[in-house]
Amino acid sequence: MSALRLANITKSFGAIHALTDVSLAIEPGEVVGLMGDNGAGKSTLVKVIAGNFAPTSGELFLSERRVEFHKPLDAQRAGIEVVYQDLAICNNLSAASNVFLGRELTRQIGPFQIIDYAGMRNRAAELFARLKSETRPRDLVKRMSGGQRQAVAIARTLLSDASIVLMDEPTAAISVRQVAEVLNLIRHLRDHGIAVVLISHRMPDVFEVADKIAVLRRGRLVASKKAADSSAEEVTGLITGAIEMA
Ligand SMILES: Nc1ncnc2c1ncn2[C@@H]1O[C@H](COP(=O)(O)OP(=O)(O)OP(=O)(O)O)[C@@H](O)[C@H]1O
Ligand SMILES: [Mg+2]
Repeated sequence: MSALRLANITKSFGAIHALTDVSLAIEPGEVVGLMGDNGAGKSTLVKVIAGNFAPTSGELFLSERRVEFHKPLDAQRAGIEVVYQDLAICNNLSAASNVFLGRELTRQIGPFQIIDYAGMRNRAAELFARLKSETRPRDLVKRMSGGQRQAVAIARTLLSDASIVLMDEPTAAISVRQVAEVLNLIRHLRDHGIAVVLISHRMPDVFEVADKIAVLRRGRLVASKKAADSSAEEVTGLITGAIEMA
């Protein structure tokens, strides 16, 4: 049963057809590399899945159950997490506080409800250990590397029990070593049965982790195939239009 299935998704902004008739299935534990030129519709597709935009037409299914999201929280509650390029984390807080941002653990002491910092640190430490990340719960995010920040963002997705993680250009602005760390984190998510959609312009990153490659051109899906049956040359051709469809 597909973790996520898009059926004939179309999204227009006035006269602009950002997505036209996109149908795509993503299995549990599958990593899909979503590629396409600037303006091809990748971020729009992520935003439709994440509940930021309602599609103009078409349907979304989670485990073959039809869903309609009216806001991002609807998608989050259904098990969809998004890791944006800027990661939306707070620089002046610790790693643990960021992992629990908006869903802090609390403890009751007599009549008082207090924030359970020790509990959050312990749980965050478990998550970082599971991700094999060297991030420590007390570390301040502003002193962290890009890869460690990714670990924080991904620990949030583990905490929320997400079944689908959408990553829009997570490796665009970080160093080579940190990219390797992010790719490892993606493998961990996959090994936990989580479906991952990775948007990236970096062909080697995509081919390193993706099971499936999906290519958008001018809002249309021109390919959806096993990475093992494709190549960087073919994908480049599909992105530019030198190859019509595959
Ligand atoms: N909120 C919006 N209002 C109007 N047009 C939009 C909006 N969001 C996206 N578009 C248009 O939809 C098309 C697809 O944009 P989108 O951001 O999805 O592309 P992309 O594949 O993510 O590109 P990039 O690689 O540059 O991030 C573009 O023509 C863009 O200008
Ligand atoms: Mg984009």
